[in-house]
Amino acid sequence: MNNEFVLFSGSSNRQLAEEIALYLKVKLGKVELHKFADGETYVNYDETVRGKDIYILQSTCFPQNDNLMELLIMIDAAKRAAAQRITCVIPYYGYGKQDRKTNDREPITAKLVANLIQAAGADAVLTMDLHADQIQGFFDILADFLYASGPMTKYFAQKGLKDLIMIAPDVGSTKRARKYAKILGTELAIIDKRRPRPNQSEVVNLIGEVAGKTAVIVDDEINTGGTTVNAAQAAIKNGAKEVYVMASHGVFAGDALKRIDKIPIKEVIVTNSIPLAGKLSKKVKVISVAQLFGDAIRCMHENKSLSQILKS
Ligand code: R5P
Repeated sequence: MNNEFVLFSGSSNRQLAEEIALYLKVKLGKVELHKFADGETYVNYDETVRGKDIYILQSTCFPQNDNLMELLIMIDAAKRAAAQRITCVIPYYGYGKQDRKTNDREPITAKLVANLIQAAGADAVLTMDLHADQIQGFFDILADFLYASGPMTKYFAQKGLKDLIMIAPDVGSTKRARKYAKILGTELAIIDKRRPRPNQSEVVNLIGEVAGKTAVIVDDEINTGGTTVNAAQAAIKNGAKEVYVMASHGVFAGDALKRIDKIPIKEVIVTNSIPLAGKLSKKVKVISVAQLFGDAIRCMHENKSLSQILKS
């Protein structure tokens, strides 16, 4: 393979792409991205990609359909321009929540998106904290999966807080919360959450002893904020002395931040997998995953083991 690699950025999270490029001491590749008058996406690489190992960074966050389509078109353009290997770097994998059928005649969009990426011509995917680990099996191309637990727990440990307990806000988050509990050396509590309908959730039961403790809710994402708010309220009701939240992806749809601001949560820690784009709250602390992705890209390009990066 040609010894160079080039990192290109889609429109969704240029700030993170720039941070990664800075960390890797490379310049972002030049690519023209714009919309035709009728709204269709136009892509043109302004430098050669022939024979190169290229990385396209695109979070498929809001506006999901535009960002996904732009990614597919960027893959197509790179393929037709003879890039040797195309890796999609997707810090936030949108459409991941529909990863199985919960009702008859529903789609499995997490699989559909994987199919689309593959059909467009991608050779590999690098992503972080999928909604559910089983989505890993939806890819038939090379795929590597990163976890925000390293940078998140490193930041949290610096606080030096005592009497901590990690809370999984639903059964699906148990594995993630247990991992955080292991890294930070804390206990674990689990919430039995029900979803009567999409975008609505309710706490049925909290299993674990949170009274007098600093509770830390660990989740993959905050979307409407319903899960976070309900879990925080349950922790407070059960005697937690304060509540923190660590969620890998800050989606913050609609009034999520307003809802969170009304609840006595001390801090909400998210990564920069999705740009906050003007959604402000003094409670939100953003941890950068630029180094994590930068290290992974370097390992992939040099064909070196990613296991050290994947451990935390
Ligand atoms: C499970 O549903 C997920 O792990 C998250 O808890 C969920 O996506 C958060 O969504 P929301 O903020 O809308 O409750």
